[in-house]
Amino acid sequence: MISDELLEKLNEQMNFEFYSAQSYLALAAYCASESWDGFSNWFIRQAEEETEHGMKIFRFINAVGKRAIITGMESPNNEIRSVLGAFEAAYAHEQEVTRRIYAISDIALADHEHATYQFLKWFIDEQVEEESTVDSIVQRLRRIGNDGNALFILDAELGKRGTTAAAL
Ligand SMILES: [Fe+2]
Ligand SMILES: [Fe+2]
Repeated sequence: MISDELLEKLNEQMNFEFYSAQSYLALAAYCASESWDGFSNWFIRQAEEETEHGMKIFRFINAVGKRAIITGMESPNNEIRSVLGAFEAAYAHEQEVTRRIYAISDIALADHEHATYQFLKWFIDEQVEEESTVDSIVQRLRRIGNDGNALFILDAELGKRGTTAAAL
């Protein structure tokens, strides 16, 4: 049985995943405005994934016989001024998501809500992947520095990221 507190946290996380999608779209918009179409593509794919994460929670809340509550959200950061800054913001964001997933998991465990914990386990694993992927891009960008050619190559590489069922 899901407690009111746990349901509230699941709802909050669902909305935060949708907010994550908004945040990534804002980063995609910055990159697109600077004609970094590959980086922009990567962030658009990431936004798609985040929407799917939110929908996973939406479906779970329905599956346990509760009602998902959609809330408004604050504006994402539209002030990013560099590609490195965009990926650094993404990394910080993913760390915040992980912190939130852990906090909800703590409540599920304390409540002995095994079904919800089992559900959250997917997100725990996903966050390891998310942090590692974004961290690796940040590290490569730092190494690249002002080397335009290397940046061009990385942009082309990230431009290849497509939407796959596995990515969702
Ligand atoms: Fe997510
Ligand atoms: Fe994410």
